[in-house]
Amino acid sequence: MDSSSPNDAQPEVEAFARSMGLGGFGKHVLLCTGTECAPSQIGMSAWDALKSGIKNANLAKECFRTKVGCLRLCKNGPIAVVYPEGIWYHSMDEKGIHELISEHLIGNKIVKSKVIGRYPLSTSSPNS
Ligand code: FES
Repeated sequence: MDSSSPNDAQPEVEAFARSMGLGGFGKHVLLCTGTECAPSQIGMSAWDALKSGIKNANLAKECFRTKVGCLRLCKNGPIAVVYPEGIWYHSMDEKGIHELISEHLIGNKIVKSKVIGRYPLSTSSPNS
């Protein structure tokens, strides 16, 4: 039986988080590549477009990206959400991702044709 506790990994994961630049990003884009909202090939093409688009736009230090398996809306995908604004988007295929990058991430304007809604998170945080 492994006697290590979950906290044994804490320094390692903290160092990894720092190396990834967590804490320094202005935006976080989560993109669903799950197959309940869009076919896998469309989701993965969108993910590739998001990765390369952020890199090519020189936004890699400003915008964190995460591929997720489901954002629980499961219709008209790929679904994406951009924080801290809390803008949820539908139809984020490769073309949609290009629009999101050029209009939202670079132009700081919402892609109105693809918005589901604006649902920012509460600003309360746990005590340390
Ligand atoms: S599978 Fe994409 S939101 Fe659920």
